Amino acid sequence: MPQDKFIGKWAFPLDDSLLEQSARRGGQYDFKKIADDIIEKVHFGPGDVVLDLCCGNAALAKFISKSCKEIHGVDHSAHLIESAKKLKEKENLKNLSLHFEDALLIDELFSEDKFDKSYCYFSFQYFDKQKRELLLKKLSRVTKRNGVIFLGDIPDKTRIWNFYPTKLKFYRENISRLAQFKGGECDLGWWIDPKEITDWCKRKKLSTEILSQKNLPHSHYRFDVLIRNTK
Ligand SMILES: C[S@@+](CC[C@H](N)C(=O)[O-])C[C@H]1O[C@@H](n2cnc3c(N)ncnc32)[C@H](O)[C@@H]1O
Repeated sequence: MPQDKFIGKWAFPLDDSLLEQSARRGGQYDFKKIADDIIEKVHFGPGDVVLDLCCGNAALAKFISKSCKEIHGVDHSAHLIESAKKLKEKENLKNLSLHFEDALLIDELFSEDKFDKSYCYFSFQYFDKQKRELLLKKLSRVTKRNGVIFLGDIPDKTRIWNFYPTKLKFYRENISRLAQFKGGECDLGWWIDPKEITDWCKRKKLSTEILSQKNLPHSHYRFDVLIRNTK
């Protein structure tokens, strides 16, 4: 497997399956089920222009593309964008456009207010605190006023001990990453307190709702956020 900005840094796939490529290992994962959960929370409309930020191999965009007019996937992993292009062709996803780009450059890639709805799934945690704030600012810029910004599948710092069996295991992983100059606290990225996002939105006067993941496999330590872009 070739290494790039995601593969070999955050994810270590055992094979080239869509699940392994997106750092999901095990039979408990189902892209359709995850996409249905996003669709239920975001309520895409048939006329919507949608941004899938950090789209990876587009395994989620494949399903979400069916419930909107146009969808744009952006990702900085060369390997995953190549995989996304193959999926687009195989599934004949005509309304999906793919962009090999850094997420922090979306305001250069797209005009202001381009999107009715934007989402970023299992990815917001790969940005440090400073970059998270910048990303939110840029997401708000490219998303229409009163549109929706959805951040999904974020590891919840306030429930970190639902994930780690011992503190030792967490700190060992943390120190090992530091020693390798890898960034992040673990392979999941950074653990984020939901309050960090709600406070940022409050400062920008955007309304937010923290949502649980109900029946998804990581509901005991991950959360979603729905932001109404009342800019
Ligand atoms: C765990 S994968 C999730 C992919 C997809 N959203 C999904 O749920 O299947 C995280 C993705 O974030 C992307 N990513 C992380 N940092 C990025 C950045 N700065 N710019 C663009 N993509 C980024 C990675 O390349 C990877 O595809």
